[in-house]
Amino acid sequence: MVFERLREDIASFKQRDPAARGTLEIVLCYPGFHALVVHRMAHWLWNQNFHLLARIISYLGRIVTAIEIHPGAKIGRRFVIDHGTGVVVGETAIIGDDVTLYHSVTLGGTSPAVDSHNQVGQKRHPTVLDGAIIGSGAAVLGPITIGENARVGANSVVTRDIPASVTAVGIPAKVIMPRNKKKAQEFQPYGTPTDGGPDPVLQTIESLRGEVSTLMERVEELETQREDTGDADPKKKSGQAG
Ligand SMILES: CC(C)(COP(=O)(O)OP(=O)(O)OC[C@H]1O[C@@H](n2cnc3c(N)ncnc32)[C@H](O)[C@@H]1OP(=O)(O)O)[C@@H](O)C(=O)NCCC(=O)NCCS
Repeated sequence: MVFERLREDIASFKQRDPAARGTLEIVLCYPGFHALVVHRMAHWLWNQNFHLLARIISYLGRIVTAIEIHPGAKIGRRFVIDHGTGVVVGETAIIGDDVTLYHSVTLGGTSPAVDSHNQVGQKRHPTVLDGAIIGSGAAVLGPITIGENARVGANSVVTRDIPASVTAVGIPAKVIMPRNKKKAQEFQPYGTPTDGGPDPVLQTIESLRGEVSTLMERVEELETQREDTGDADPKKKSGQAG
């Protein structure tokens, strides 16, 4: 089961990082993969109430990878952190399946969310649902939800819920476009569609070509008409008139 999950994680890196060449490279050189393996161990210890040990393991992972994931964070399957440096995932963050984060993403809090006994324990960090892609440098803050298959643009700051299957960018992040539902099911590296509809320049050229050939047909038609009516040479006609 553990190895099956690891194999699945490696396959996700291969699938989502166009630069990934093979399993060995991912196992040896991918900080995002190392951080995930360390987190799985630390999270298991956290759930067994070995909190300090979990924190120590997580901290060692952070020294090696520059990725900080609190051992309390719940992370689903096939999670990919690409590049990784500067990623921070808070204690009460929940991440679904097939989520992708790029470097310097923060899944952080905005308030300590203390309860009536002054205990920090309520949910303070975001929930990122299945298939979401969060661009580099984005800060997703507070107990908000990023919807399934949503995309958050690089360097955005998100403090409100983002619906499923949309793209949100900016500070504060605003929804700029719905995401093609069919395409949203497939992962697109960097969140950017590579075949997102016809090229507008090509479309313009095609429509101009269509108009030119219609005009050519019309010119030929007019010339034929003129020949038929014996009006083929306007110069000759104007010479005769003069
Ligand atoms: C948000 C994102 C997914 C949108 O990609 P897309 O669907 O191809 O969208 P477009 O590039 O057509 O951009 C649509 C509009 O959003 C704007 N936009 C795109 N990304 C933006 C961002 N991060 N912040 C602010 N505006 C952004 C574009 O300027 C464009 O605006 P316009 O319509 O006024 O010209 C992509 O731009 C992005 O940020 N991906 C993350 C990439 C990343 O983190 N890479 C790191 C890999 S190392």
